[in-house]
Amino acid sequence: KEGPGGLTVAEITNSLAESTIALQGAHVMTWQPHGQAPVLWLSRFGKFAPGKSIRGGVPVCWPWFGPHAEDAKLPGHGFARTVMWEVQETRAQPDGATFISFGLIETDATRAQWPHPSSAKLRVTVGAELKVELATRNTGSAPFQIGEALHTYFHISDVADMKIKGLEGCTYLDKVGGTTSKTQQGPIVIESEVDRVYLNTESDCLIEDLGLKRQIRIATRSSRSTVVWNPWIEKAEKMGDFGPEGYRGMVCVESANAVDNVVTVLPGAEHILQAMISVEALA
Ligand code: BG6
Repeated sequence: KEGPGGLTVAEITNSLAESTIALQGAHVMTWQPHGQAPVLWLSRFGKFAPGKSIRGGVPVCWPWFGPHAEDAKLPGHGFARTVMWEVQETRAQPDGATFISFGLIETDATRAQWPHPSSAKLRVTVGAELKVELATRNTGSAPFQIGEALHTYFHISDVADMKIKGLEGCTYLDKVGGTTSKTQQGPIVIESEVDRVYLNTESDCLIEDLGLKRQIRIATRSSRSTVVWNPWIEKAEKMGDFGPEGYRGMVCVESANAVDNVVTVLPGAEHILQAMISVEALA
């Protein structure tokens, strides 16, 4: 049906959860298991317009993450989040969850930016857990490299009442004030702008939220990087689509393959990045 800004959205409601997914970007905008506060953060001040990335939910960054390595004119985080995808399959699962898959629609414009024969699919399972899989198939005869992220915005009660666990001891590139390499000591606490790419990450990430008395668990497969981002006051104001104090209620924990962890996809091979998101009560 028609969603905000005239974007076409799929609305899914089942016995376990509800979710709204825009066809532009195959962008999961909301996911709310019944009886829970929203798990994803979606800006109320976002642009919601054709060709503009939605601020919140799960933007799909593909086939590169951040600025393009060779051509600064190409869009940051790739083009997948701003082009149209089509629904390819919907299916009810035995446990009551809903499976829906999307394929990126290739056009002359996408081929001009990404000349490698390939297909991109996003498979989403909406249930008590949200499972998102981004599958890249190399349909050509030469290998190519991709960067990617499920750039997930999480809804939190207040950034001051939140900690991120699971990245202790990992090396990260700190992108605030020039790029430097650092090692994470203890859980992540956010008290100013944070923009970090954690490399070679293996463990589940936990967003512990004392205000909502819950923790969000992010389990992954074939994701070697984790990006943690909160723009804080000035950057959020400059971006113009966070709204007043918007940065306080969100944190991005992105399941990614970026920087040193970009992925080579061989001819005929399919690479699948997966994120499984669930919510647990805090004792
Ligand atoms: C994060 C990047 O993944 O996305 C940040 O690490 C960036 O540097 C942020 O600012 C938001 O990007 P965009 O393109 O959605 O404004």
